[in-house]
Amino acid sequence: MTPDLAAAGCFSLDGEDLPFQPGDSILQAATRAKRYIPHLCWHPEFGAHGSCRICTVKVNGRVGAACTTPAAAGLEVQSHTAELDKQRKTLLQMLFVEGNHFCPSCEKSGNCLLQATAYQLGMEGPHFEEFYPDRPVDASHMDLLLDFNRCILCELCVKASHKVDGKDVFAMGGRGLDTHLVLNSASGKLVDTAMALGDRAADICPVGVILPKRRGFVIPIGQRRFDGQSVAEQVEDGPK
Ligand code: FES
Repeated sequence: MTPDLAAAGCFSLDGEDLPFQPGDSILQAATRAKRYIPHLCWHPEFGAHGSCRICTVKVNGRVGAACTTPAAAGLEVQSHTAELDKQRKTLLQMLFVEGNHFCPSCEKSGNCLLQATAYQLGMEGPHFEEFYPDRPVDASHMDLLLDFNRCILCELCVKASHKVDGKDVFAMGGRGLDTHLVLNSASGKLVDTAMALGDRAADICPVGVILPKRRGFVIPIGQRRFDGQSVAEQVEDGPK
């Protein structure tokens, strides 16, 4: 990068000079410039969570999360390298075996960011031994189903319920491998929370945990969000 471009407020992503705005993370600036950096727990509406590490890049040679690292003039960022994509694929494989992700039978198939990212990174199998955890399904609510088997702990539902819906229906419980989503009701069931079908939290889940009932296949397989266009192409073609 030339000193002029650094002074103009640009950083380099995979050798290309990108502008950024004050307060941008590397991932925000890259997304605005329609450059795809793989990510799961980051959302343009709710900002960084920094937990999945799929967005890991090299910043001036040091490893960091693109969603939490501030963009700064003159930074040299590497994202699309064989080494980083291999690490991302390994993280994805760990996420897949840690939960129960059976894409062919999941009604979120084709609309799932985890699945789309796995396709994007060429993940062909789980590689690691499956955990097959015993997790419940909560079908208590009239309009919404919760399938905890697919949770990737991104906390987007926690943020959406708190910040947009003002309800705090969801929170995280447990620690380490036992970390899991919990519900804000005495029974621990969704039906006893204030959750409603129209809540922002009801449609924020990037995977198949929070599902509206009776709509599973209204949009047929083959016509879903990622069926016609990859996750990278959707960033490169315009805002999400
Ligand atoms: Fe950056 Fe998940 S998107 S850590």
